[in-house]
Amino acid sequence: MADSAPVITIDGPSGSGKGTISRLVARALGWHFLDSGALYRGVGVAALRAGIDLSDVEAMARLALDADIRFEDRIDGEPHVWLGSDDISSDIRTEEAGQAASKSAAQPAVRAALLQKQRDFQLAPGLVADGRDMGTIVFPQAELKVFLTASAEERARRRHKQLSEKGVTAILPALLREIEERDLRDRTRSVAPLVPAADARTIDSTSQSIEDVVRTVLDWAAPLAR
Ligand code: C5P
Repeated sequence: MADSAPVITIDGPSGSGKGTISRLVARALGWHFLDSGALYRGVGVAALRAGIDLSDVEAMARLALDADIRFEDRIDGEPHVWLGSDDISSDIRTEEAGQAASKSAAQPAVRAALLQKQRDFQLAPGLVADGRDMGTIVFPQAELKVFLTASAEERARRRHKQLSEKGVTAILPALLREIEERDLRDRTRSVAPLVPAADARTIDSTSQSIEDVVRTVLDWAAPLAR
């Protein structure tokens, strides 16, 4: 659609910094922001709460269609995620919810149920969408596609730091193992695997600051924001 709002997609593995960077880019441009992982995490939390076996294809398909999961961006604060009238914004951030999200996300029916929900975020003046398949499946027509990577060790270190700042004790080698496990599942699943779009520009953030990466993306985005 020639006249629809422009989209910047930022895909990459967990811990690559894409959440922080996507939000900062969206704020700098004054555009909408979608954290698609939060929707998958919402499905994971809904399944855990309902006691549904995450590998039960039919039950998960039903859940993804029926559960009222909403992502709400807040310009002046943290985005919020709702399951019905329950604010599950902090529940979705646990490692357990991340693993449940990754297992749910490997199911085609779950992905299909979330597709339109994600596309509905494409609104003027523009959208920055963060995830795994934003540039390949959800917004293949996006004007700018970024694939953000960082070494698994660096991603585990960042996660460790983030958790210690919250007062949560975590063991670095265990975090690394969890990250590698989730990466493997995300990269090798048959539906919408984590791969860069053919026309994506890659940034390796292992030794770059958040500010550096944001600056690079904003430079690339400059022609879109005029
Ligand atoms: O990005 P985040 O770590 O919050 O995503 C949680 C999980 O949701 C990922 O490990 C991945 O399996 C899944 N996901 C996905 N497609 C997206 C976003 C997230 O499969 N677009």
